[in-house]
Amino acid sequence: MSSPKIISSIAEVQQAVRTAHASGKRIGFVPTMGALHEGHLSLVDASKAQCDFHIVSIFVNPTQFGEGEDLDRYPRTFDADVAGLADRDVDIVFAPTTEQMYPAGFSTFVEPPKVASSLEGEHRPVHFRGVATVVLKLFHAVPADIAFFGEKDFQQCLVIQHMVRDLNMSIAVQPCPIVRETDGLAMSSRNRYLSPADRVRALALSQTLDFVAGEFSSGNRNVSELETLMRTRLFDDVDSLDYAVVVNAETLEPFTDKINSAAVALIAASVGNTRLIDNRRLG
Ligand code: PAJ
Repeated sequence: MSSPKIISSIAEVQQAVRTAHASGKRIGFVPTMGALHEGHLSLVDASKAQCDFHIVSIFVNPTQFGEGEDLDRYPRTFDADVAGLADRDVDIVFAPTTEQMYPAGFSTFVEPPKVASSLEGEHRPVHFRGVATVVLKLFHAVPADIAFFGEKDFQQCLVIQHMVRDLNMSIAVQPCPIVRETDGLAMSSRNRYLSPADRVRALALSQTLDFVAGEFSSGNRNVSELETLMRTRLFDDVDSLDYAVVVNAETLEPFTDKINSAAVALIAASVGNTRLIDNRRLG
């Protein structure tokens, strides 16, 4: 175990990447907003399996939060985060200030790809513009070889992959599997907002996804039937449902009738005041 070097300056982290590259190291990068849990740390483990130098960024990015969302109360646990990253022998924690990332007069944004327009894009209109912009900026600050993202944010993975392809960026994007609590709840920094009673109700998301995966395995390919089953199962436990859909896993476009290619079931729902997302590939 060794403590990571904490760097807040963009020029300094760029220099550290150049030095590591010059000594032949393959660099892995894990962008985060902190409040780290085993889901984030699994991305570090993926980096450790494929790279020799590991950088994690911690930056709560204001531009991806909409009006009235949880930017102000987003959990900030920097010291505990750094301790967890020291246990994993991460080399650098890049933790820029908001002023460094968005200096006065900042006005350039990335127009996100088409795959950003549905689902989260519909319910959180500025979200992916903020994500795409900050991730592009982070990739310029940390020009690593491979960047690791969690499939917990399934649509985000696609948005980043499309952006990297469309804008000729040279970093490889690697999606990694969702890490869950033992009872199935997908790990999330926002789970800590849940009261004990809401924590129990929140299981409806993963249980519904298990159920729909079971239906799919038994041969059910009827999308509207599967979506109705999902909504019915969620109805009693969640306080509001943004979406519960089965869509094409590559484009996120709806199927016209029957599932006829790789599919994913995705849910976004609020339990109490906490908005949760989860998903599961079918097949
Ligand atoms: P954040 O929510 O902190 O997540 C950082 C990374 O951890 C993302 O790639 C996310 O998908 C992954 N992650 C979160 N929970 C996970 C879980 N249970 N299993 C596997 N991976 C998980 O996503 C963001 O931050 C931001 O949008 C960011 C990309 C950093 C841009 O600001």
